[in-house]
Amino acid sequence: MPTAGQTQHAVLPLATHDEYARQSYISDLRMHILGDIGMGMERVYESRVKPAFEKAHKRPPKDEHEIHDVMLRDPYAKVWSSMIRSCQEMIWDSVASTVERAQPELNARVNSTRATLGSLTLDPTVKVPRYLAASDVHLMPGNYHTEWTSGDVSQAALFDRGLYVYQAGLAGPTCDGNGRTIAELVKRRWPEFKPAKILDLGCTVGNNTLPHKHVFPDAALYAVDVATPCLRYAHARAESLGTAVYFYQMDAEQMSFADESFDLVVSCILFHETSRTALANIYRECHRVLRPGGLMLHMETPRAFGLTPFQAFHMNWDAYYNNEPYMQAWTNTSTDEAAVSAGFARDKIVNIVVPDFYAAGDAAFDAAAKGSIKKSDGVARWGETIEWYLYGAWK
Ligand SMILES: C[S@@+](CC[C@H](N)C(=O)[O-])C[C@H]1O[C@@H](n2cnc3c(N)ncnc32)[C@H](O)[C@@H]1O
Repeated sequence: MPTAGQTQHAVLPLATHDEYARQSYISDLRMHILGDIGMGMERVYESRVKPAFEKAHKRPPKDEHEIHDVMLRDPYAKVWSSMIRSCQEMIWDSVASTVERAQPELNARVNSTRATLGSLTLDPTVKVPRYLAASDVHLMPGNYHTEWTSGDVSQAALFDRGLYVYQAGLAGPTCDGNGRTIAELVKRRWPEFKPAKILDLGCTVGNNTLPHKHVFPDAALYAVDVATPCLRYAHARAESLGTAVYFYQMDAEQMSFADESFDLVVSCILFHETSRTALANIYRECHRVLRPGGLMLHMETPRAFGLTPFQAFHMNWDAYYNNEPYMQAWTNTSTDEAAVSAGFARDKIVNIVVPDFYAAGDAAFDAAAKGSIKKSDGVARWGETIEWYLYGAWK
């Protein structure tokens, strides 16, 4: 069962046999809906939705919005959309019972974790930004920040297990494939660059934070988030996995780190969940806290620029039906312009597409990391190569 392969660290709640079976089924089902059934979406568009539009309007649909309007009236797309949405809800349902059963004991375990390697610095004055608090992101009931009881970490446990079910184990046993890909890319593409201080923004449970310490063992690793349950859990998780991370509760739009104090600032799938104002503020903060010669590198979904209107529609489905209200704004925002407005020089901008470190394997990843930047159509194809998109700049 793919979901049985998650690393059992000290604060991951133990599922029963039946819960494992249900989670595993949903994991496989999601991949089937995304892959086998999802692949049919473009055929349906090309073979009947687009021709019908052209017949009625004497032109093809001009953008993803026009495609959305007609596509979601087609029975195939309706069924696909409904299935993938239900599957997302089932992920959280299937994990919630495990977390609820574990809750009091889990909270006690997390809150009694001693900091022997890293640290946890909470700041109750930090507010969860409205753009984040306003809805349950990707339909996760309670979002990242809700505390159901004093010292609660349930939301973090829900995310940790839910993420593994969502990814069907494709990101590895600790769900660290994205962070590992970023760190391995930095190390292999720029071998002379040796970051001594690394900062991860929007770390959630720290799954994609830890690989930076594994790849750069001599670096001091810092991570920030606004969500208290996630930070408590991330700290206990990191200690249990033997990795030193200094976790801070801070708003990445306004951090209290000193100017020019980091060599490398990274984030992983943060910006499709932040407002455009927040993106501009976070980019400015990246520029401020980076030392001259330092690197900012954000891993995110592809930009809508350069995609066909159909690809942009497909990619932005989450904005409409998966409570990802900022997805579309993100995919239509120029990261280059954001970097320049934040103070980075245009000729220092970095945009890279790389294969997933685990999926590609060491040799193919190494060749890609050291090779020329690959152009991509921006669509991840399950079963074929999985690609990740990095946006950033040198200071
Ligand atoms: C999609 S999750 C990121 C997941 C994580 N980086 C990973 O790789 O699995 C977004 C995270 O960013 C946090 N976040 C959003 N806006 C933030 C901000 N302005 N400052 C700090 N954290 C923020 C949220 O609380 C949430 O934990």
